[in-house]
Amino acid sequence: MEEQIDQRSRNVNRGPVGVFDSGYGGLTVLSEIRALLPEYDYIYLGDNARAPYGNRSCERVYQFTLEAVKWFFRQGCHLVILACNTASAKALRTIQQINLPELDPHRRVLGVIRPTAESVAALSESGHTGILGTEGTVLSGSYEMEIGKLYPHVTVTGEACPMWVPLVENREYDKPGADYFVKQHLERLFEKDPLIDTLILGCTHYPLLTDKIIRFLPKEAKVISQGKYVARSLMDYLQRRPEMERKCTKKGSISYFTTDSPEKFGQQASIFLKERVDASQTDLEQKL
Ligand code: DGL
Repeated sequence: MEEQIDQRSRNVNRGPVGVFDSGYGGLTVLSEIRALLPEYDYIYLGDNARAPYGNRSCERVYQFTLEAVKWFFRQGCHLVILACNTASAKALRTIQQINLPELDPHRRVLGVIRPTAESVAALSESGHTGILGTEGTVLSGSYEMEIGKLYPHVTVTGEACPMWVPLVENREYDKPGADYFVKQHLERLFEKDPLIDTLILGCTHYPLLTDKIIRFLPKEAKVISQGKYVARSLMDYLQRRPEMERKCTKKGSISYFTTDSPEKFGQQASIFLKERVDASQTDLEQKL
């Protein structure tokens, strides 16, 4: 039986919006969300001590993500965005269907895959879409499932790019060495389906590789970087759910937490945000 969120945090009527990623990639989503919805308060959490999630098992990604969700709830968040494709693919559904009703049926956890999938129809003319993501995201088939539900006529082909996250995290994303791995995966994807005209960057790290991706595209294809779509979808969600919107505090603040070194988080975050950030260290285990 899941433990319920303790009475103290349950009684907090309003709180910041939680934004979660295994590490730094979710910052690309956070900056788009803040650009569109600057008035809200946000808490960002990167589980850097246990990242990357990309090639971990379903059970591990689910366990880590659930721990993060409970942590956000203890911070008073009523709404949490999983700004990580791997966590959205492997943990979101179970958390929404199994854990939330027991933890607190009035809180919400949303992911990044559905809002991105919704954007496909407007952009693809050929009806052939490619998904680039971590091994976990691509093997989960989550994009195929979400796009299939919305647009059954669209053909979806995935390519896992396990080297791309390390390239970004090690600041190699704009260096010549990255060319090899970017070209390799794009060639493999287009070999599988040469008719692809829309490419979804299904990993929150990949927007930093956009310039290289565009350079190695075999033809004019559109690249979908998901941050903007996730931000727009959150805005729609808050407009449609005034009862949730009222639970989100609005002082325009942001705080950053990491499960690893805050100094390192501050340095690395500047790659994604182009600004210095001060982070605090946290543990996700519940202290009794
Ligand atoms: N940010 C994660 C995603 O969007 C990738 C990083 C990782 O492997 O942990 O899938």
